[in-house]
Amino acid sequence: MITVNENIMQFQLDTAHTSYVMRVKEGFLEHVYWGRRLASGDHTYMRRELGRASFSPRMENCRGPILDDIPLEYPCFGRGDLRSPALEVINPDGSDIADLRYVSHTVSEGKPALAGLPAFYAEKGDNVSTLCIKLRDRVSMLECDLYYSVFYDYDLITRHAELVNRGENALTLEGAASACVDIDRCDFDIVSNYGTHEKERMIERTPLVHGKMEFASRRGSSGHEHNPFIILASRSADEFKGEVYALTLVYSGCHSMSAEGGQYDSCRVLAGINPDGFRWRLGPGETFVTPEAALVHTEDGLGGMSHIFHRAINDRLIRGKYRNSRRPVLLNSWEAVYFRFDEEKLMDIGSCAADLGMEMLVIDDGWFGRRDDDHSSLGDWYINRSKLPNGFDNIHKMLHEKGCGLGIWFEPEMISPDSDLYRAHPDWCLHVAGRPRSEGRHQLMLDLSRPDVCDYIYESVASLLRTGNVDYIKWDFNRNVAEVGSALLPPEKQGEVLHRYYLGLYSVLERLHNDFPDVLFESCSGGGGRYDCGILYYMPQTWTSDNSDAIERLKIQYGTSLIYPLSSMTGHVSASPNHQTGHVTPFDTRFNVALTGSFGYELDPTKLTDEEKRFVTETAAIYKKYGDTLVNGDYYRLRSSYTEDCAAWCVVARDKSVCIAVYVNTHVRVYPRNEHLAIRGLDENARYRDTRSGAEYSGSQLAGYGVPVDKNHEYSSEMWIFEKI
Ligand code: DGJ
Repeated sequence: MITVNENIMQFQLDTAHTSYVMRVKEGFLEHVYWGRRLASGDHTYMRRELGRASFSPRMENCRGPILDDIPLEYPCFGRGDLRSPALEVINPDGSDIADLRYVSHTVSEGKPALAGLPAFYAEKGDNVSTLCIKLRDRVSMLECDLYYSVFYDYDLITRHAELVNRGENALTLEGAASACVDIDRCDFDIVSNYGTHEKERMIERTPLVHGKMEFASRRGSSGHEHNPFIILASRSADEFKGEVYALTLVYSGCHSMSAEGGQYDSCRVLAGINPDGFRWRLGPGETFVTPEAALVHTEDGLGGMSHIFHRAINDRLIRGKYRNSRRPVLLNSWEAVYFRFDEEKLMDIGSCAADLGMEMLVIDDGWFGRRDDDHSSLGDWYINRSKLPNGFDNIHKMLHEKGCGLGIWFEPEMISPDSDLYRAHPDWCLHVAGRPRSEGRHQLMLDLSRPDVCDYIYESVASLLRTGNVDYIKWDFNRNVAEVGSALLPPEKQGEVLHRYYLGLYSVLERLHNDFPDVLFESCSGGGGRYDCGILYYMPQTWTSDNSDAIERLKIQYGTSLIYPLSSMTGHVSASPNHQTGHVTPFDTRFNVALTGSFGYELDPTKLTDEEKRFVTETAAIYKKYGDTLVNGDYYRLRSSYTEDCAAWCVVARDKSVCIAVYVNTHVRVYPRNEHLAIRGLDENARYRDTRSGAEYSGSQLAGYGVPVDKNHEYSSEMWIFEKI
């Protein structure tokens, strides 16, 4: 709901539980308030002017505003706001000043799409409306349209900016954030994710300092290192209560998410494309659209924040056939056979998987070109007939007869120097003439800023999908950037390459999404190196990590769940000892942990014992029965292996009729305490039956004391499925 009071030039955006308020004063768009829901009214008294000038410049001969002390919605460099700017411009005269002042505004129902970019969407009948505020620099004639879409029922606000050059000469954008929020306090903890390959999205919680804390990627993707979100939590906020502000970016490229504690104990939060390496030449009449940022405020702690993001991502970001529904139980061949397979082996493991109740065989890598290891063939997307003489025909036929689908791995954005494609098109990769081309995993990145390259990628994937033999694609991306340059762009546009790369990638993915609506896409980047809301718009799930060890996954999945719903996290039961760590873990623990997500196996099923096979069949049935609850339910982090010798969580159906809870013991002690696990999110006035043991409990017993837990075995785990009676 959006209320504009034109008498006082105040804009009030209301969701079910929050309000976000701005006003215009002396032409500047000021931030007034963001927090718990306000009744409509005049809130401008909240913007007290304290006249703090320090050494900061003051406009209009010291009678005007002190920009350095005003909370601004889209601050610019050059006129006296000396904090980090949202907008940095080089004007045609070489100056770097921007001075954006209010021009007009419009309010509309629903939400417009962002040209060429992924974004949250509204459906017919949704309580969603959009405010657009136009600002203009009257000297350069650069216009800035700030968009705010209010998803009332989801407690979510999305923002982005569109910059239009109305002047007569080209100017250059050196930074254009998606959102800025100036908050008038800085006594927060910053909660962020850090990580690397096989150790993604570790949680770190640190007090915000006076100074800038930035979580960024210059990797050519959102990256393993810092996920594109920033959370500001009140010092006392925990999982279940306390004030939390969070911003995430709907973008897969280089990002910068920062919080800056200021001289007057306020805080500026910026979210957007990373300005390092970004320069966008904006010709007369041209528009630059920033990616979208999604903003959440809650008083229900980090768990409450996650519930908001999870519901919004599940319902209004993910699209297509698999939105809100469980994904097929799959067998991925990577850790089962790596590059060592032929048709007979695939038929064996595929047929065994189908007999055990699995629903998809994914041939991961090695099926194309001359690919027997990772040194060659990326780009040569034709089937290797010496391994698969009948192509996918026989495998697909056998699987379909058993009610199972076929998936294949692709890495379409890459090119191996040892490939027919590279020999034919050596200029199709990102490179800078006259400089060496650095390889990562023996491969270069294709230049997706080029339309011809995008067409090639589309056609490579589409031609295989058109055969009707492929039901699923795992889309991988296995290196970060160096020597970014495009052979097609002139020197003054080379700073645009990485963003154009993502516009190209998104255009390919959009075409595939529209042309092959029944195909399930999974994204991957050495596991979870490109796990973001941008990619989830096109592919509803991401391979969470190449680390498939159930115990290591506890922290990875816990960190990932801060923003991303279980439906988007792929979890596989892999072999024991685990291939990455050597941990020996019971089968049921591997299953219980993998079930926290879109579920499958990553082992050779023909090598399982009879008992394990029985377990696989039974558990596949559990996933099929409760998969929709796991996808759409509210996820509660109950115990954290970051701070305790255990991990526990539960997923509760939105109508509270079912709850799946898991406890994993990560450490055995000589005299274990009397451990019990309290469950959150249930109807405390109802009664529940544990469908596995038959025990009955009241909702209040489960919430108050919970269920007793066995602490006697290392890496043991328990799962309970409570159904309302
Ligand atoms: C990296 C992925 O993360 C793995 O799961 C696997 O697909 C390999 N690539 C295949 O090369």
